[in-house]
Amino acid sequence: MEEIKDKITNAPIGVMDSGIGGLTVLKQLIDVCPNENYLYFGDTKNLPYGEKTKDELIKIVKEIYDFFEQKKVKAVVMACNTSAAIAYDVLKDNYNFEIYPIIQVVSKSLTQDKNLNKIAIMATQATVNSHKYETELKKSNPNIEVKEQACKLWVPIVEKKLTKYDEKAVFEEYLEPINEFKPQKVILGCTHYPYLIETIAKYAKKELFINPAKIFANYIKADLTAKNLLSTQKDGSIEYFASSNPEQFKENAKIFLDIKKEPQLIEI
Ligand code: DGL
Repeated sequence: MEEIKDKITNAPIGVMDSGIGGLTVLKQLIDVCPNENYLYFGDTKNLPYGEKTKDELIKIVKEIYDFFEQKKVKAVVMACNTSAAIAYDVLKDNYNFEIYPIIQVVSKSLTQDKNLNKIAIMATQATVNSHKYETELKKSNPNIEVKEQACKLWVPIVEKKLTKYDEKAVFEEYLEPINEFKPQKVILGCTHYPYLIETIAKYAKKELFINPAKIFANYIKADLTAKNLLSTQKDGSIEYFASSNPEQFKENAKIFLDIKKEPQLIEI
């Protein structure tokens, strides 16, 4: 009996994103749960998710969940706002591992603060179109005012798919509506965006911006603990998978994490 329990508690945790953005979450997870075995999947082939249709995203996320199912994970961390917005509700009941969707967890945690009544979200086009943040935030605080802003070019900039652009024009276009709204806080509602914080700070007040990765990781730790699913091992491990060009993934990842082990190519 004890052996079966160890098999489950020491099973890996899958972490997914369209590319390197979810490493902002993985970094926080390693910090709070260092003894886990992580499998990080960067879907570089299908990036950017923010421009995909609902049907395309559901199909993609299903393939990633299936991959994690074959790996016998105990939990999947949707470290990707866009997939949490579009695919989580549709797929969540088809798998028997725990699934942690970033938008739902972060919205619930932030609305514990009853003084937070005006909040802005910067996210991909697909996340904004879904209004998932607004829906989730209003579940706990129906009176909260929400402004959602799509930032179409930020993921291509972070993933180095767009290298020549007019910084002032791009950043002002997305940040001026936020400044006009005068929010109490701004959620960086795409895991790639924390990398841009110093540039964002040139056009808006830096202290307003929240990188939700820490709140998300703390919640996951508390939930795994409550469910008796925390690893009992002394050390943890990390394996990386990319759906195209693993060398490029490793190179781009350096802005967030120094990847020691070569990422494996997994075609989905
Ligand atoms: N980083 C992901 C997110 O949090 C997706 C970005 C993209 O591929 O468009 O939404």
